[in-house]
Amino acid sequence: MEKWLNDVWAKIENKLARTSRTPGDKLFAYTSKDGKFVGSSNIAGWTNGFWPGIMWLMYIGTKDEHYRKTAESLELKLDEALYRYEELHHDVGFMWLLSSVANYRLTGNLESKRRGLYAAATLAARYNAAGMFIRAWNGQEKTGWAIIDCMMNIPLLYWASDEIGDPRFKHIATSHADTVIETFIRPDGSVNHINSYDPQTGEFIETFGGQGYTVGSSWTRGQAWAIYGFILSYIHTKNEQYLFAAKRIAHYFISALAARDDFVPDCDFRSPKEPVYKDTTAGMIAACGLIEISRNVPEFEKDLYLNSAIKILKETEEKYCNWSDNEDSIVQMGTEAYNHGGKNMPIIYGDYYFIEAVLKLMNKDILLW
Ligand code: GLY
Repeated sequence: MEKWLNDVWAKIENKLARTSRTPGDKLFAYTSKDGKFVGSSNIAGWTNGFWPGIMWLMYIGTKDEHYRKTAESLELKLDEALYRYEELHHDVGFMWLLSSVANYRLTGNLESKRRGLYAAATLAARYNAAGMFIRAWNGQEKTGWAIIDCMMNIPLLYWASDEIGDPRFKHIATSHADTVIETFIRPDGSVNHINSYDPQTGEFIETFGGQGYTVGSSWTRGQAWAIYGFILSYIHTKNEQYLFAAKRIAHYFISALAARDDFVPDCDFRSPKEPVYKDTTAGMIAACGLIEISRNVPEFEKDLYLNSAIKILKETEEKYCNWSDNEDSIVQMGTEAYNHGGKNMPIIYGDYYFIEAVLKLMNKDILLW
């Protein structure tokens, strides 16, 4: 295991030493085409925290100042999005936890702290008190929509409460998490992607298939957001209900992988066998969540979570990581969504969570969530 980790880390360092320089120091990498990074086309896009986040992970892992400087210059560019109020949505957590809040946690930069608090205020403002949920996206028809991915954004609220010594933000986070336990997690441990509530009364109306195959199916990245999101809520609150939720969804996720004897998930656990849409990103996110669960359960429970995470990571590395100098992305074969968007392609958060998971296994990580 140690040899595998050392080898993989050396390959990550080798790849990033090249890709973090021109043009990687100027764009917000999203995917790659013909081996070259393609940057995100919208400065307010939800994925724009991941490339600066990778720079911070590399800074944590190497202490090389080049990564700090690159992350800082990307953070300044992201300021353009911070003031586009109409375009921002619940994903401000992904965007600013991995850029500004990471900077503040690692260097104490007060400008970065201010950006993080600004983003937290924007997230808190999306709370619907009648339904006790955080609204996901903009657009009149989506006024009452909440999505499972938001479990990864609410750590921004835990951070803000801790920083300013005021529990208001945390109350919103836990209230949203409690609604997710009640109305997103199904009795069998799988989760919905999108729920709709009456924005006036807060009453649950219906659920949608979202980025998965169909209503009632099981979009794997959504399951992974839930695993990692709930264990993070447990870490920040020590409320055992969140630990149990993370474990329940994890048990479902691990059984679904084991049933197919394939530890690289498809885009949906409940979809036809053909066509094959892999989603390596779901595996990488789940691996990070499973490692965190293993760190938060008693000794004789740890193996289930840790060994499953290692299996996912090793199998993905063996089959789907590209270490060549002719390809900028590391993890290949992610899928944006089952019914729309790109399939079987590199996506930047696959790389982000892979590197984060490797740092965790090396015990060199600092929690950025
Ligand atoms: N948060 C959007 C996605 O996972 O595609």
